[in-house]
This record gives sequence, structure tokens and C-alpha cells, in this order.
Amino acid sequence: MLKISTSLPMDILHRIFPRVQPHIDSWFKIYGENFLFLYGSQAELVVTEPELLKKIMSVKEISVKRPGGGPIYKKLVGDGLIMSHGDKWAKQRKVAIHAFTGERMIFKDKDDVESDKLEASMHYLIMQMIRRRETTILLGNEDDSTPDYLGLLLKAHHNNTDDDYKLSIQDMGMIINETLRLYPSAVFTSRKVLKETRVGKLVLPRNLNVQIPISALHQDPEIWGEDVHLFKPERFSQGIAKAVNNNPGAYIPFGYGPRTCVGANFAITEAKITLSMILQCYRFALSPNYVHEPVQHVALCPKSGVQIMLQDL
Ligand code: HEM
Repeated sequence: MLKISTSLPMDILHRIFPRVQPHIDSWFKIYGENFLFLYGSQAELVVTEPELLKKIMSVKEISVKRPGGGPIYKKLVGDGLIMSHGDKWAKQRKVAIHAFTGERMIFKDKDDVESDKLEASMHYLIMQMIRRRETTILLGNEDDSTPDYLGLLLKAHHNNTDDDYKLSIQDMGMIINETLRLYPSAVFTSRKVLKETRVGKLVLPRNLNVQIPISALHQDPEIWGEDVHLFKPERFSQGIAKAVNNNPGAYIPFGYGPRTCVGANFAITEAKITLSMILQCYRFALSPNYVHEPVQHVALCPKSGVQIMLQDL
């Protein structure tokens, strides 16, 4: 099914769930929002109802372990935080959170102090160089015959007065949120039930896998409305909580619960910085050569890349 659904390009309507998880989509139509299937001898419960997901993820015996995925998966993602569990996971997670919040309380040794000094003096020298060059450009004393990268950057920075193309950090956040709604890098995530647990009417036995198809939740018209397949960043204009009507299970590009992505803030900040750097110098549009073929190769990605056309501002 997957081979057929991803063999051809699709229209640009962003309806990727039937394309990247055609089997789940077809069972979803027959059996409803939550259903059980067998993957070989492994039972797997698929949950696409945000309310049930919220209840399930509030139970520690379900929310803390990810299924093994076999040796091939370990080779692909390594034997680190993503695959670890129990005490090893708790320790690694603590270290990772610590690293990503940047509030490290570790004392600096002699080498760290020395490298900080070097970094500060290099920064000072580079800034002096840039300022000298900026003054030359602003005074109109620059010879345009041999433009280099720094010269181009500074000129673009000072020439950019076109208000139509100014994007605020908030706009950028909305665009990133909407992009991750329609194209979540992780199409699904999953958990392993550690101990028989009752959740509402359901009794989940030990060793059951729980699969959470992220793209199904993100493309549910009951949550997002009839325009669910349209790219509309403005749905996030009043924040994520408002966009999902205070339903935290409805929008989960970085997962849900204690094993949520540790790199989420880093990834969003990195995307905003990269976009800001590009947009200061260029406007860009999709190339007519682009073919829309989202596929899942571990993460969701464009099969033949994304060709864009950059234009100097
Ligand atoms: C747009 C970028 C990214 C997306 C959409 C994303 C998404 C996800 C998702 C869906 C999960 C599974 C969460 C769950 O099962 O509840 C995850 C886990 C994880 N992500 Fe990310 N991620 C991104 C970037 C990053 C980056 C930049 C890093 C590190 C530098 C990172 C490190 C991790 C780790 C270590 C885990 C496993 C956490 C655990 O099991 O405790 N991710 N990510």
C-alpha cells in the first residue's frame, strides 16, 4: 500500500496522512478513531482521539517507554536517549535537558576560561572589521567591482527597506507551527505498556504497543475545521492552545508526555534564525521544477528535495 501511495507525486493540497500511512488511514475509515491491529505477533493500539491520548499519556506505566524497534532501528538512531529506557533514560534525559536549557551549573576549568577569553577577543576583532567595512559602504566609498560575501551581506542589510517583505518573529512562529502541523517530521510515535492499566473503558495489557499517528491528529477536520488541508499559519495567531481549543493532544509535532522531544526549542530557534538570515538578503519562491512527493524515510522528507529560487532583495 505504502509503495503504491508514495509512487506518484501528489497535488499540493497537503493531505499527507493517506499517503504516508495508507494502511492506518484505511483502517481508521473502517474501525474508527482508536483500533487494535497485529504487527506480526505484536498487538498495537492506534490512538487518534486527542482526549484518549491525553488520558493514556498521563499514566506513567504507558508514557515512559518507547517500543524497541529492533536492531536495525538502533543502527539508524543510535543507542542514545531515543532508544533508552528506565534509569538509563532518566539519567540521559536529565543531562540532555540540562544541555538544551543552557543553564549549566558546571564549574569552568582553566581551558574553558582560556577559550572564553579567546572567543571574546576574536569576536571583538571581527566586529571591528565589520564596522570598518560598514562605514566604508555607508559613506559610498566601496568599489563595487569585486563584491565579496561580507560586502553583499552589509549592502543587503542596509538596502532592505521594503516593508512588504518584513516578517515578525511571531509570523515566523506561526508559519513554522503550520508547517509542522501539515508536515510533522515524525509521522507517528509510539509507547510500550509496562503494566496492565485501565484507562476509562479500556484495559491495556502489559507489552501492548500504542501507536500515535501524529499526522492523523494534525489532519482531523473535527479539530482543525473544513480547511484542515490548507496552509493557514493564521490559525496559530493566538497561540497553540487557542488553535487546538485547549486540547493538548491535538497538536503534537514534538510528541507528548515525559518523552517529548528534548530538542524542540533548539529546533524552532534554529529555524527562526536560519529563516531570518535568508530573508534579510533574499525573497524566495518554489521552483517550477519542484515535484511534491513527501515520503517517510525515518523522518518525513521531500523525496527529491525542495528546489527554490532565490532573488536578491
Ligand atoms: C523540527 C525538528 C524536530 C521535530 C519535529 C522533532 C520531533 C520529535 C518527536 C515527535 C519525538 C518523539 C516524542 C514522543 O515520542 O513523544 C522526538 C524525540 C526526540 N527528539 Fe526531536 N524533533 C526535532 C528536532 C530535534 C533536535 C534538533 C534534537 C536534538 C538536537 C532532537 C532530539 C530528540 C530526542 C533526544 C528525542 C527522544 C527524547 C526521549 O525519548 O526522551 N529533536 N522528537
